[in-house]
Amino acid sequence: MFDKRLMLMCTESKKYILGNILLQFLELCLNVLMIVTMALTVEKLYSRVWGLQDLVVPLLVILGTVVLRFFTTRLALRMSYLASRTVKRVMREKIYGKLLRLGTSYREYVTTAELVQEAVEGVEQLESYFGQYVPQFFYAFMAPLALFFLFGFGGSWKVAAVLLVCVPLIPGAIMMVQKIAKKILAKYWGQYTQLGSTFLENLQGMTTLKIYQADGQKNEEMNRESEHFRKVTMAVLTMQLNSVTIMDLVAYGGAALGILLATQAFISGSIGLFNVVFMILLSADFFLPMRRLGSYFHVAMNGMAASDKIFRFLGEEEPGEKTEQVKGCDIEFRDVHFSYDTEREILHGVSFSIPEKGFVGIVGESGSGKSTIASLLMGRNTVGSGSLTLGGKDIGRISEDSLMRAVTYVGTSSVFFKGTVRENLALAAPGVSDADLWQALDKCGLKEFLQSQQGLDTRLLENAGNLSGGQRQRLALARALLHDSPVYIFDEATSNIDIESEETILHEIHRLAKQRTVILISHRLANVTDTDCIYVMEKGTVTEHGQHGELLAKGGVYAGLWRVQSALETYGREAV
Ligand SMILES: Nc1ncnc2c1ncn2[C@@H]1O[C@H](COP(=O)(O)OP(=O)(O)OP(=O)(O)O)[C@@H](O)[C@H]1O
Ligand SMILES: [Mg+2]
Repeated sequence: MFDKRLMLMCTESKKYILGNILLQFLELCLNVLMIVTMALTVEKLYSRVWGLQDLVVPLLVILGTVVLRFFTTRLALRMSYLASRTVKRVMREKIYGKLLRLGTSYREYVTTAELVQEAVEGVEQLESYFGQYVPQFFYAFMAPLALFFLFGFGGSWKVAAVLLVCVPLIPGAIMMVQKIAKKILAKYWGQYTQLGSTFLENLQGMTTLKIYQADGQKNEEMNRESEHFRKVTMAVLTMQLNSVTIMDLVAYGGAALGILLATQAFISGSIGLFNVVFMILLSADFFLPMRRLGSYFHVAMNGMAASDKIFRFLGEEEPGEKTEQVKGCDIEFRDVHFSYDTEREILHGVSFSIPEKGFVGIVGESGSGKSTIASLLMGRNTVGSGSLTLGGKDIGRISEDSLMRAVTYVGTSSVFFKGTVRENLALAAPGVSDADLWQALDKCGLKEFLQSQQGLDTRLLENAGNLSGGQRQRLALARALLHDSPVYIFDEATSNIDIESEETILHEIHRLAKQRTVILISHRLANVTDTDCIYVMEKGTVTEHGQHGELLAKGGVYAGLWRVQSALETYGREAV
């Protein structure tokens, strides 16, 4: 009924939880005081020797307790809020910290949509766990015990004992429900996050879906998923409703039994009028705390199920200590094996090295593992076996900061943020001067275009949606140049863009290669002919390497590809 891991997180909340329990207990005491006053008044009225003044004091006491109860309830609510507020903050900090420690490779462990849902909605669910369930858990055991002694001393031990025996039936019912609930709730959360992921994916891909008129099909898929979610939600609600019914039966049945026994004792003359009124009015209080615990329990279960997922993420093994700093910039792959999942190995023992300020090209058919190589170098994925070093240091041990400062990656689709050109470029070099920005833009052939717009203040839509493909790629290059790192990776950075942009970008890459380590990944062989060394990849291994001329002379795969591409390009030119 308790999650130890959650409880260990709440050291800061303990005082508020305790405060809440004490306030609830104070509330019970006030209630007892009110009922004692009522019982005494009834006894007095029954004796028929009473004056009006005998009613004034009880009325004042009752009014006083009502007012005091109002304040204790409010204070208890405040304590609930404070207890859960800290926990929510701590939990979110932990998720965020974990995310930072996992760094760019976090997607190896969890999808972004799932993470967002866990951090937002999942953590929110803990509010009820700490704010209501935990304090109620302790109070629900304390209250019946206190009432047992009160009933025993102030009325009948027999009634007290019968009521006390009935109370554990409620937690018994809760425990039984918990067994079924755990499975259903795990399913509920699984379905919930899955639905969220699908929704996000479909929303982001809406244009593509519309183009292929596949939105209807996706709509149906989502409807099916939603239907599953509806069913599992209904199962959760049915389970909760059933257990509430059982708990109500026990609680109100128990209270009725108490009232019956107390009345019997009164009729048989073993207790007086005061005692019977007192017991009748307080019987329900024996069970109500447990009953309330039962209803909080369902919400708490939801929180626990959500926290299971969060703890699973928090418990993911982290890559070893990343404290090394990049010193040199030579790169070495030594017998690197890698797989994204356990089913299929992608790189089967890749070995090659790039000297500092070297300029290499990586070519090969689609799916041969070129981008995977870039991804390993960027620390987005972790090497399986073998070693990958930068400046002689294992990439997996280099601090993310240092690695990101050392390596700049430009892929096919660079991310831009809504804002001005200046803001987007300054990401790469905070505090950079306008003159330097213009210089970088000039190199990438964007100066004229931007001057005709609002200069550096030209506004970009999300992902620079208001620029052409070529302009976007040139802007990505300008940003990369401003980053000024010793290593650059260009992964099909000139794919799918106009010839003019391609030439500008390639020209800049070649200039850059004179001073930096540059890896140029391209399916177009003509782009890499000038590099110091070309690595040819086939199905996850490097099968050939050497300079353009050497590879042609070899007459292997590269030479074959070159012939095909040259023929195609000549054909293309002739056709034009
Ligand atoms: N995130 C991923 N999860 C699982 N498998 C992946 C992932 N990314 C790539 N792969 C698989 O790894 C293999 C190599 O992919 P990679 O992207 O490195 O190829 P590539 O040589 O860059 O191809 P292209 O020229 O088309 O860009 C492919 O078979 C691909 O299916
Ligand atoms: Mg690729």
